Parts: sequence; C-alpha cells; structure tokens
Amino acid sequence: MRSWALITGGSVRLGREIGLAFARAGWNVACHYNRSGEQAQALCAELRALGVDALAVQGELEDEASCQRIFDTTVATTGLALRCVVNNASLFVPDEGDSFDEAQALAQLKVNLMAPMRFGKWLAKLHANSQQATKQSTPEAASASHQPQPSVIHVLDQKVYNLNPDYFSYTLSKLALERAVSLQAQSLAPTLRVNAVAPGLMYLSGPQTQDNFNRAAQANLLRQPINPADVASSVLFLAQNASITGTTLRVDNGQHLVPLARDVMFVVEELFKS
Ligand SMILES: NC(=O)c1ccc[n+]([C@@H]2O[C@H](COP(=O)([O-])OP(=O)(O)OC[C@H]3O[C@@H](n4cnc5c(N)ncnc54)[C@H](OP(=O)(O)O)[C@@H]3O)[C@@H](O)[C@H]2O)c1
Repeated sequence: MRSWALITGGSVRLGREIGLAFARAGWNVACHYNRSGEQAQALCAELRALGVDALAVQGELEDEASCQRIFDTTVATTGLALRCVVNNASLFVPDEGDSFDEAQALAQLKVNLMAPMRFGKWLAKLHANSQQATKQSTPEAASASHQPQPSVIHVLDQKVYNLNPDYFSYTLSKLALERAVSLQAQSLAPTLRVNAVAPGLMYLSGPQTQDNFNRAAQANLLRQPINPADVASSVLFLAQNASITGTTLRVDNGQHLVPLARDVMFVVEELFKS
C-alpha cells in the first residue's frame, strides 16, 4: 500500500515542489491549501498523471477546529497510510520588536508554530494504537511491517541561525519551531520521528522587487540561488530515512554563515558594493 504525505500550503512555491518530490518517489499526496484552490486542483491532476493518488484539502491553519477538520478529512481518505505531515505553510508579515501588532504576532504563532504542533500530536495519536497492536502480534507480522516510523517535518528558515531583527514575529515563531524539533522528537518517540529543513531565500516575497531578489538570492557562501527542488528532496530524504529524528538540515547554500544586520532584502545593495 502506498504511503500518503500531507503537505500544508502544498499547492504553490515550495509546497508544490515538495508534493512533486513525494509523488515522484511513489507517495500519494494530500495537498492542503487555503486560498489557492485552483493551483491545488491543478497540482493534484499533475500528481495523478505521475501515477499516484492525490487529494486537495482546504482549510485555515490559525484555529484548532479548522486544523482538526483538515487532518480528519485527510485521514478519512488515507487511514493509517498517512505517514508524513510536512508543515510547510507559513505566515510572513513584516514587523518589529518595538511596535508589533499583538493580533498579527499571534496569528503568525498560530499558523507557524501551533498548527505544526497539532498535526504532530494527531499523527502520533493516529499511529500509537496501531504500532502497539503490531508489537503485540507475531514477530513475523512485526518484521513484515518494518518501515521507517511515520514523521512530521517542519519547514524552518535559515534566519533562526542567523538572527536580525526584521520580520520579528515571524522569526519568533520559527525560533520556537526550531527548538520544538528536539522537544517534539522526544515527546512523540517512539511512535513518530520529528525533523526539519531550514531553507534560505528561495522566492520573492513581500515588498521585494525582482531585481532585489535576483541579487539577494546570491548572498550566500555559494553565490548562487537556492534550488527549491533541493529543499524538497531533503524533506523527502528525512521522510524516508528510518534512523533520523530530532534533526534539522540546513539547505541554504550556506546563507546562515553570512551574518547581516538586517533581512537580506533591505541590505543587498550595500552588501554587493562592499
Ligand atoms: N520563500 C522563501 O524564500 C523562504 C525562505 C526561507 C524559508 N521559507 C519557508 O519555507 C516555507 C515555504 O515558503 P513559501 O515562500 O513557499 O511559502 P508561502 O508562499 O509564503 O506560503 C505557503 C502557503 O501557506 C499557506 N498559508 C499561509 N497562511 C495560511 C493560513 N493562515 N491558513 C492556511 N494556509 C496558510 C498559503 O496557502 P494558500 O495560497 O492556499 O492560501 C500559502 O500559499 C515556509 O515555511 C517559509 O517560512 C521560505
């Protein structure tokens, strides 16, 4: 039976790359979306053409009830074959530590931190009983079912290793998520594995112009843009490697080793002058 991966914010940009990587490796894909319904349906058609099953699941990630609906709708189709949740969706709103808006900061904490914690909790619950039953059955049945433990994989940001005060609340949420990789791995073991990837700049965001992005994308040790497909294949690697938990892969062309006083989009001109 094919395994399923649920990918949040899975219809565009990095989420889409991750869905394609899983499908090419033979996984069925549940593509969560909120507003990008057309893109989600188009991606599902593309994934089915690759020979796997695909499901588009709509929902807001801020509140618990909506997250629960997303999870339950997915499991109604996948059952226990749901073996990976990739927490890719995020809210990315500019603000600063001396002036952040409370509601906006909380929204980012809910989407970027609490939704990933909830999906981990529910995936662990889904698999806890079945793993117990397998252990209690014959040794042959236990060894026949041997495959990597299910996992949750969080998408962080190299910013957590390379702080600057821009995007204050977003960074706060990703810092907490980075610390949660070990904590959640300890909490949910041995049922689930918990891992993460920390990408660098991949896509144009917020107020950035294309010209600014083209320069900023090279502000890393390798002086070249990060290929989102490399981030996606790292997520797939973590999903399929039975021996890794509590680990973050930095997939950023070494951007975390290039300290900057502000977000790269605001300092790229001076950086390339110097
Ligand atoms: N972009 C970069 O260069 C970069 C750099 C470093 C790290 N990252 C991380 O990589 C991941 C993907 O980045 P990205 O730029 O591809 O993501 P993105 O385009 O900013 O967001 C991905 C999706 O998240 C969904 N989303 C946002 N808020 C939501 C909410 N309240 N409820 C439900 N869904 C919500 C949206 O889905 P709908 O469109 O369906 O509404 C959106 O398309 C993120 O975790 C980001 O922090 C990105």
